[in-house]
Amino acid sequence: MSHPALPLNAATTIADLRRHVADWRADGRRVGFVPTMGALHEGHLALVRQALKAADRVVVSVFVNPAQFAQGEDFDSYPRTLEEDAAKLARTGAQLIYAPAARQIYPDGFATEVRMGGPAAGLESAARPHFFHGVALVVAKLLNQVRPDIAVFGEKDYQQLLVIRRLAIDLDLDVEILAGETVREADGLALSSRNAYLSPEDRRRAGRLNVILAEFALALSEGAPARAAEAEAVSKAERVFDAVDYVTARDAGTLGALPDGPIQGPVRVLAAVKVGSTRLIDNMAVTPP
Ligand code: PAJ
Repeated sequence: MSHPALPLNAATTIADLRRHVADWRADGRRVGFVPTMGALHEGHLALVRQALKAADRVVVSVFVNPAQFAQGEDFDSYPRTLEEDAAKLARTGAQLIYAPAARQIYPDGFATEVRMGGPAAGLESAARPHFFHGVALVVAKLLNQVRPDIAVFGEKDYQQLLVIRRLAIDLDLDVEILAGETVREADGLALSSRNAYLSPEDRRRAGRLNVILAEFALALSEGAPARAAEAEAVSKAERVFDAVDYVTARDAGTLGALPDGPIQGPVRVLAAVKVGSTRLIDNMAVTPP
């Protein structure tokens, strides 16, 4: 079934999706995939452009995945803007929007879980223990449904990117996972669908997060001892934000804790804070001294 109201091809069932992809394959096309939860912004569209460079045909999924939201999180209020999303994707040049109903993804009797360890441990999982199991489950399903050559994920959600890479290796998913750089507002705030929740005053404070991370990253790259630099960044964040879940420097490959002292190899600084009731996450690469 296609949506006559939408300005590009749309699939709402797995069968529709597979028909489009099979046609592309029959023509020898390379297929790219960008999974999203919709409410698309320039960060998402940058991933689509990157996918279009690496593949001939690009499918973008829009699915607000109930399995990655816990009770009391924003599943019901998460912005749903399918027509605007489709218009943006048509302008960006994607070939297909895949917007399945929840029953397509989780039909009656659905009984399978994916439990992630490794890079899923700690950080986001401390505040949201259900989160990466739900993400891994839906991404495994979507990758099996689309069977793309490449799929693009944003560094904005750095822990998620590492989780997906691990998932693809562990489940032998035959796909190349590409990382897209974080797209930011003029003041450095990482674009996020949830930024729409911020009041003007909270929006101003939100812009401090990337500054605190950039100063933290600079201190580490200049040889500051990891523990002192981290304590300094945490105390700055505590002065600005209503809650600080974490502000920390981790091994960029494993997200494991660092020994104290000047950093040795590639490091990532990562943070999650609350401004009012909105939770913000961000991260940056650190180059060793
Ligand atoms: P969503 O939050 O919609 O993000 C979809 C993709 O866009 C993710 O790969 C995310 O890292 C990327 N992204 C978000 N903001 C970005 C920015 N400012 N710059 C660059 N990329 C950005 O992440 C999810 O959805 C879901 O967990 C999903 C993977 C779709 C599974 O449900």
